[in-house]
Amino acid sequence: MQKNKKRPKVVSLFAGCGGLDLGFINAGYEIIWANDFFPEAVETYEKNIGKHITSDDISKIKSSEIPDNFDILLGGFPCQGFSIANSNRSMEDERNFLYREMLRIVKDKKPKMFLAENVKGLLSMHKGKVIKMIVKDFEKIGYKVDYKLVNSADYGVPQQRERVIIMGNKIKKENIFPKTTHKNNHITVKDIVGDLAKLRTRDSSFKTKGKTIYNHIARTNVHDKFWGRKHKVDQHKICDYLKKWRNKKGISTKKVDEHFGYKHTAGHWFRKDNGSGSIPKPEDWKKLKKLLGFDNKNDKKVTELELKEIKFEQSLRINNWKRPSDTITATGPEIHPNKKRRMSVRECARIQTFPDDFIFYGSLGNMYKQIGNAVPVLLAEKIAKTMKNNL
Ligand SMILES: C[S@@+](CC[C@H](N)C(=O)[O-])C[C@H]1O[C@@H](n2cnc3c(N)ncnc32)[C@H](O)[C@@H]1O
Repeated sequence: MQKNKKRPKVVSLFAGCGGLDLGFINAGYEIIWANDFFPEAVETYEKNIGKHITSDDISKIKSSEIPDNFDILLGGFPCQGFSIANSNRSMEDERNFLYREMLRIVKDKKPKMFLAENVKGLLSMHKGKVIKMIVKDFEKIGYKVDYKLVNSADYGVPQQRERVIIMGNKIKKENIFPKTTHKNNHITVKDIVGDLAKLRTRDSSFKTKGKTIYNHIARTNVHDKFWGRKHKVDQHKICDYLKKWRNKKGISTKKVDEHFGYKHTAGHWFRKDNGSGSIPKPEDWKKLKKLLGFDNKNDKKVTELELKEIKFEQSLRINNWKRPSDTITATGPEIHPNKKRRMSVRECARIQTFPDDFIFYGSLGNMYKQIGNAVPVLLAEKIAKTMKNNL
């Protein structure tokens, strides 16, 4: 890409494979330095975006090793381990070091603006105290800070993905978040990956209709059947039955829990309030029978299983053609609507709005992880444009 002095300069922490960075590049920025310590993500970043990424642990990098004079600092710091203990000083906690790295670099480099992306859970963490502290910490070093929960689907990304965007600036402006563009016209899974549905997945790239398709490779562990109860069983009736035998034997629910080595599970066999009761699994039923010495009356009903079709699509996370996809996560992709395989790496990438010529590297699991970790490119681009107008 041609260098242009007028392009605002960006430094990117926790860059991953570069979803956020690509959005900024598309909006006309130049990324001058980036960092991540996940080797496969760095390989993907280098080969698609540029060699300006370093692959070290950010806590080992001195601020003096990072270039000066850039406009925006990006960073979706991982938020595990936020502990706020008793006081606001808990940001000193060793486990929060990743957040502190971002704060340190903003403090040392004083970019005009910064942007962080994080999971929705950040807002409720420690009853909202964590987000308050983050805002306060950045305010203390001279930034005006705002945050907003956004859903990618409302910005034209074919995916329900709620994330918190934290924005700050020290140039005395309002922080402006992009306006939603697709609140009432969400893009569906079919719109975006329908054409790949009939194409066989394979390990290497292939050509179809004059176009090369990369990374159309997928996990194939799909179970659309499961072992379920053969008979309809009324939990309330079973509960009364078990209680009767438990009382007869003079054993407390707690003792039953202890006998099974469960903390609360066994206790649920003796409850029917709030729908929190449950029926013992066949193996537990047999063990319980030995303990309480009950008769055979319900044995067949409770223990006979049969192979059943999965009906609850959401619980198995099967994507639905007619809606935006559920959130693409770093752990496991959803099952393709054809129920024969998981969504392929390319399909997940499209749902995260990566272009088709953006090629992922690493093992299958690591490619899924890079994609699931990313900020959707299109959302990033929209955020980048509003920030650019504000600069
Ligand atoms: C949520 S992902 C960021 C994704 C990225 N913003 C994108 O859009 O593709 C967080 C990244 O932080 C990286 N990371 C976690 N701890 C790190 C550390 N100590 N030093 C450098 N990178 C780290 C992870 O490897 C991961 O790629």
